[in-house]
Amino acid sequence: MRRRSLTLAGWNVRLAVGVPPGHDLDFCSPGGAVLTPKPRGPLSEFVFAVLRADLDSDRATPWPAAEGHADAAITLWTLYELHYRGFDDVDDGLEWHPALLGPRHELEGDLERRLRDRFPGHQILGGFGQDFFAFVADHDGLSLAAHVQRDADRDQVLELLRVRSIYHLKEADPTAWVVPRLPVATKAALVELLYDEYGVGDPNRLHAHLWAQGMTACGLRCDYGAYIDEVPAEVLEQNNAMSLFGLHRRLRGAALGHLAAFEATSSMPSRRMAQGLERLGLPREIVDYYTEHVAADAVHEQLAVRTICGSLLEAEPGLADDVYFGAFTCLDLENRVAGRMLARWGVLDSDEGAVA
Ligand SMILES: [Fe+2]
Ligand SMILES: [Fe+2]
Repeated sequence: MRRRSLTLAGWNVRLAVGVPPGHDLDFCSPGGAVLTPKPRGPLSEFVFAVLRADLDSDRATPWPAAEGHADAAITLWTLYELHYRGFDDVDDGLEWHPALLGPRHELEGDLERRLRDRFPGHQILGGFGQDFFAFVADHDGLSLAAHVQRDADRDQVLELLRVRSIYHLKEADPTAWVVPRLPVATKAALVELLYDEYGVGDPNRLHAHLWAQGMTACGLRCDYGAYIDEVPAEVLEQNNAMSLFGLHRRLRGAALGHLAAFEATSSMPSRRMAQGLERLGLPREIVDYYTEHVAADAVHEQLAVRTICGSLLEAEPGLADDVYFGAFTCLDLENRVAGRMLARWGVLDSDEGAVA
């Protein structure tokens, strides 16, 4: 990496120019073909065909109803992905096409209603930070990390990595949508946290890239969305909730509550994951991803709860309910994903794994 000095208004500023040596940063990033997923019902089949064809010819055609959660969830996930990296078989110009926004709005409405129906509500007792950590502890659910630490076999762990890749390959991206929508102190604190997630200026330390290196070292694909066709509907819903919160300004409180709950439940499970991966002899790169999060998220949880959400509620106290709604949704959806995976592996029977 070349460095050069510039003088800006009397300050000497050192800039990194070019890519740091030692890593191939393009080994699985957007270069590979990323195609629309397999449909999971009549709605997704119709919408994916429309996306790949001439949309205007289908403008007047009503969309078929979704056949179950998986059909609706994969359709919404695909429409959201137009705002992230898109697909090689879909025209980039469709991102804001009005014919897609109306039906997407309906799918989002269904998802948000379902998420809000599950949220029991919450009254803050005492100071916010203390109350929030107590709320997270009270809603502790099933733990995939505990299973990986002690009992999981290699196939189960590799399956879990494939499932987790849907989020980790775009780690922090859904929260980055929220930045322009925040009051000053909250914005400064969120960008401090995101700076860490995005590698502190070094692409080799970007968390999504650390994850990709770990996947590759395990012999897995690390191209974006490579395993979308095998993940259960609960994982699609988990990812869709993050995009829903991130893409709607009115849901900024839920987005930051979700972030805070995510960070507050990451450090200890990351330690368990690292220990389980070491127990199974998995490669150093994937262990390092989790080890990085043991330390980073011990800091991030304080930043996310006390400074990010704390400053948001000082500036906008009316968002308290949404902060807890977002936090509950994070914990509840993770519990549902864990239940599904543990039932699939025979650790729970299917009734125990199905979270009401
Ligand atoms: Fe991270
Ligand atoms: Fe983090």
